[in-house]
Amino acid sequence: MRGSAAEAAGGLARDAAAGLTAKPKRLPAKYLYDALGSQLFEAICELPWYPITRAERALLARERDAILARLDTPATLIELGGGNGEKPAILVEGLAAQRRAATVHLIDISETALERARSAAARYPSVIVRGHRGTYAAGLRAAAAELDPQRSAMALFLGSNIGNLDAHESRRFLAEIAGALRPGDSLLLGADLVKPERDLLLAYDDPLGVTAAFNRNLLVRLNRELAADFAVERFRHRVVWNAAASRVESYLVSQAEQTVRLAAAGGCSIRFAEGEAIWTESSYKYKPEEVAALAESAGFTLSAQWIEADAAFALTLFDAP
Ligand code: AVJ
Repeated sequence: MRGSAAEAAGGLARDAAAGLTAKPKRLPAKYLYDALGSQLFEAICELPWYPITRAERALLARERDAILARLDTPATLIELGGGNGEKPAILVEGLAAQRRAATVHLIDISETALERARSAAARYPSVIVRGHRGTYAAGLRAAAAELDPQRSAMALFLGSNIGNLDAHESRRFLAEIAGALRPGDSLLLGADLVKPERDLLLAYDDPLGVTAAFNRNLLVRLNRELAADFAVERFRHRVVWNAAASRVESYLVSQAEQTVRLAAAGGCSIRFAEGEAIWTESSYKYKPEEVAALAESAGFTLSAQWIEADAAFALTLFDAP
């Protein structure tokens, strides 16, 4: 379980004060997902220019039997930060069709997401859903403590959520997953692949402006939760493909010289020069063999890799050490 709302706000206040006084200015991407941000992200997943969700869904459906063959009976799935539980539902549906029982552990920081996942799973009486509200690390510990020592489990880290982590953070996180799993367990990892720059820019700066709204909503959140006074209309959404680092970088760029006060974050004042940016997100893109190497550096062994070529997206299955 996560701490109180006040503690959570304390984390935001600390992180915002530290990030906005750093050079370059930055804000952690995890704060994009308040209630409105989560809804905007779901809208992004429906955009024709954002292929990740559709490609992954298609791969899970296409490779479902191969994945199900790797699961024990009863099956155990642990989804890390999946939101509404839509992806494990594709697997659970297959298990139900084979009359196999399953336990699904869902780890998410959003209570709304867990509630929706629970009610979706209620359609399958043979499935037990365990929601763990909290960070990945805390949820992983809680789920690991409940695992049946007689049955193997499969962890799911999907949607290219790994793409928000840099090389160091992703290796550390994968090692944490490896530490919670046991020999015989597995990890299914969804990762977006490198593709032409114009496709990447359209995916993160769509013509409907939904992704811009998703990004700028971070300032709306700071205004509400930290009593800040960002003039949201004076910040523009900008994305850059950094080929050398293989990541799409998302920014909020100040359109004027301005000063913003964060009343509930120590009352600090933040000065912006015209054109100065806040770095809000990195979305790393991989080559297929880089996905394998990343998990292998955390102790996993490659078992299978499936690629959706049109969208350039990979699902990779690993054996736990
Ligand atoms: C949920 C982190 C995978 O980076 O593609 C979508 C979030 N940001 N559009 C991504 C996001 C802008 C997304 N992840």
